[in-house]
Amino acid sequence: MAQQEFDTTAFRNALGSFTTGVTIITATAPDGTPVGLTANSFNSVSLDPPMVLWSLAKTSLSVEAFNEAKHWNVHVLSQEQQDLSNTFASRGENKFAGIDLEEGLSDAPLIPDCSARFQCRNMVTHDGGDHLIYIGEVLNFDQQDLPPLVFQQGQYAMTARKPWEGVELSSEPKAPECSYNEDLLGYLLGRSHFQMLFRMRKVFDEQAHEDSHFFALSVLNIQANLSLEEINDYIEYTGHSLTDTDIEFLISQELIEKLDDETYQLTANGRETSLLHIAQAKAIEEELIRDLGQGDVMALKLLLKRLISKTDPGLPDLWKAKETAK
Ligand SMILES: Cc1cc2nc3c(=O)[nH]c(=O)nc-3n(C[C@H](O)[C@H](O)[C@H](O)COP(=O)(O)O)c2cc1C
Repeated sequence: MAQQEFDTTAFRNALGSFTTGVTIITATAPDGTPVGLTANSFNSVSLDPPMVLWSLAKTSLSVEAFNEAKHWNVHVLSQEQQDLSNTFASRGENKFAGIDLEEGLSDAPLIPDCSARFQCRNMVTHDGGDHLIYIGEVLNFDQQDLPPLVFQQGQYAMTARKPWEGVELSSEPKAPECSYNEDLLGYLLGRSHFQMLFRMRKVFDEQAHEDSHFFALSVLNIQANLSLEEINDYIEYTGHSLTDTDIEFLISQELIEKLDDETYQLTANGRETSLLHIAQAKAIEEELIRDLGQGDVMALKLLLKRLISKTDPGLPDLWKAKETAK
């Protein structure tokens, strides 16, 4: 392809298909100033001896510092460090403000709470077009079980591991096309919901609670005082609704009480029961995190939040209303 036909934007977009982690590379300038930048050009080179590489734009303000530095540190960022990534992707000074740096093998700044860190000695620097390629020997490294931040097509992303062996995931409808199949999203969402809540349902059963009672206690836990109509507005999405009889039952169980003619609130007993439900839900979630891993659970939550927002038919926002509770 002739040089003038080369489409730089398309090239950049094509490179964006190569999904990467996100790192911050740090060093100390000869005058003692710490320097660092966000880089996703990091890659492994050799296992024995342990070597890694990354590349730096020649336009970077840190070029001189890195060219002089004998050591640099690579920090593989965790999901929680997106803000830090943005800070180090800016050209502003004082990127290290507020960071509790740790002592490393060299003078290069060592940032805490990363998924992995590689402390390196610069071995060789190569010219790489508009970038400089730094190859380093890894002198020390450490790793924590923190889900890594991911970068794809110019956007931060999350990883979800593919299903384990024996579980197929197909976007193709299986024949006959008109029948339900196990990859139908509605089925997967419904089944996972009911399976997750299976253990909670046992607690409700022991307390002779209907699902609608659980939903009512939950919304009254979030909002201090609501009328029957308002409670039903909030739980409408569940397909359940509360009747006057349900209200009488919850009052007789001393779970809710009348605040005035129209509105209800949780009693101390109701609050305790609701907290028990929350504790149960959290225990189920913690077990799931142990089984699936924090990263997959975070990715799942992100996708569910997107799905909830996309499918919202305009229901009242319980969480937003909390801030402006009467
Ligand atoms: C996800 C991501 C990856 C990046 N990767 C690189 C990289 O590998 N090399 C590079 O030179 N700049 C990279 N950048 C851009 C630099 O972080 C950015 O230009 C920064 O301002 C450079 O800081 P400095 O000029 O203070 O050194 C990346 C930015 C982001 C957001």
